[in-house]
Amino acid sequence: MIRSVVRGNGAALPRRIMKNADFEGMVETSDEWIVQRTGIRQRHVAADDETTASLGEAAARAALDSAGMTPADIDLIILATSTPNNTFPATSVEIQNRLGMHHGFAFDLQAVCSGFVYAVATADLYIRGGLAKRVLVIGSETFSRILDWNDRSTCVLFGDGAGALILEAGEGAGAITDRGVLAASLRSDGVHKDKLFVDGGPSTTGTVGHLRMEGREVFKHAVGMITDVIEATFGEAGITAQDLDWFVPHQANKRIIDASAKKLGIAEQKVVVTVDLHGNTSAASVPLALAVAVADGRIKKGDLVLLEAMGGGFTWGAVLLRW
Ligand code: ACO
Repeated sequence: MIRSVVRGNGAALPRRIMKNADFEGMVETSDEWIVQRTGIRQRHVAADDETTASLGEAAARAALDSAGMTPADIDLIILATSTPNNTFPATSVEIQNRLGMHHGFAFDLQAVCSGFVYAVATADLYIRGGLAKRVLVIGSETFSRILDWNDRSTCVLFGDGAGALILEAGEGAGAITDRGVLAASLRSDGVHKDKLFVDGGPSTTGTVGHLRMEGREVFKHAVGMITDVIEATFGEAGITAQDLDWFVPHQANKRIIDASAKKLGIAEQKVVVTVDLHGNTSAASVPLALAVAVADGRIKKGDLVLLEAMGGGFTWGAVLLRW
């Protein structure tokens, strides 16, 4: 059977790092509060010349280099983002052009923080359905542009960045030992749409708007939703938490990550945590965390890796893959 196999990955971060202490003169907060409630210590913030497209392009180029490929080898780009450069055209098409790629096709996918997990599951279907052979999956965000910098309950939580993964069609035996995407489960429920949203849009206010979140409400649902969808993915693949080599969750809050891992019985040393370095980068958080754990030698070829995310909508989902 056809499997979608990881051939390379990459990441890109804005030059500017903003530490928790940098907020202290702006809003009533403290490094201590932010670290204790979220685990975040710093985040990267895009300069005017750094955009979702430019960061996405840089992450894509890094992923192509690690795969030993060029844009000519790619036939589909899927960009997960909620902060596109323009309302249209799709920012993925702009990245395609920046890469000098004038063949194949590209589209954006919007599932907020779950975007990258949705995009990997979507790329897998395009590959297994025969519509694409090599897919560049990117998560790129500039949430700093939609933050209300006077709202301490949200502005300290988010950061900018991009990560990318290249998936290629390969032969598998249909077994759990195959390399590639092995199982995926996706969910959404719009009943929660007002708990985490942006208060603007082209069809309503005609403005970009600002992020609004009932943090406590999101927190309340997060662990249950995350663990449910992961258990469904384990069931589909016929594995248990003990079989995993690495758990790479969406990086929103260290307390949510710890509680989810504990409930699932995933050992602490198997959990990749980068929320301290990047804050919540929405659709970029999972590929940024992957990039850190691949670069430092933790995630290696053949390892069983679980990706998970939950975000605005709500949307949530999990992907199991063998690296
Ligand atoms: N500094 C100091 N105090 C603050 C800050 C701040 N930056 N922000 C809020 N507070 C205050 C609040 O005003 C509140 O004060 P009060 O008790 O006088 O009303 C107090 O701190 C406690 O606030 P809570 O909201 O109860 O704090 P909580 O422990 O829930 O932490 C947080 C807040 C970090 C937002 C948490 O609820 C959370 O992480 N929620 C989930 C966010 C998430 O996972 N998002 C994922 C999806 S993101 C996406 O899809 C884009």
